[in-house]
Amino acid sequence: MPDTDPNLDFTRAMARVPGPVVVATTVDAAGRRWGFTASSFTSVSLDPPLVMLCLDRGASTHGAFTAAGSFLVNVLAGDQREIAVRFATSGVDRFAAGDTAPLELGLPGVPGAAVRIACTMHAVLDGGDHSILVGRVLHCASADGREPLLYVNRGFGRPAGLDLAVPGGR
Ligand SMILES: Cc1cc2nc3c(=O)[nH]c(=O)nc-3n(C[C@H](O)[C@H](O)[C@H](O)COP(=O)(O)O)c2cc1C
Repeated sequence: MPDTDPNLDFTRAMARVPGPVVVATTVDAAGRRWGFTASSFTSVSLDPPLVMLCLDRGASTHGAFTAAGSFLVNVLAGDQREIAVRFATSGVDRFAAGDTAPLELGLPGVPGAAVRIACTMHAVLDGGDHSILVGRVLHCASADGREPLLYVNRGFGRPAGLDLAVPGGR
């Protein structure tokens, strides 16, 4: 029998849509570091260069990010699952392991990330029970040979068997 709960259908369907795994970080006016794991990261615009990610309005990091002037998106690599889990865990010091360092814009960066994208805050938009953080891209760092971590079916994975050339792809 089909599900009658549209929210259940929605979350089940979206679980099948692969996404990246990023740790977004910022630093507040008092110098405190903030960060969270997200899979809702994507590009928005080429000119100007814009990216976005969605942050739960109820998250402990919401106030810091929506007030931030800049943030850093660390696209995690396949061997960085432990970092992904820690930055999604409530009530712990996510930076205590010491595996971040001040990198682009002086913001907490993950060395060895597949990609890092540093942004100024372009807009904070209404996204229902999430806020949409739109960043204007200032710096990009790509690590050749570092495969990105993927999130799909509520688990982590790596790209496998992908065709390299897509006509019209960019
Ligand atoms: C793989 C993965 C992807 C996630 N993606 C998002 C996301 O896109 N947006 C979001 O607000 N929370 C996302 N979360 C949850 C947050 O990382 C975090 O657990 C949540 O904000 C609760 O944190 P808090 O203790 O700071 O309130 C994701 C968690 C995981 C493990």
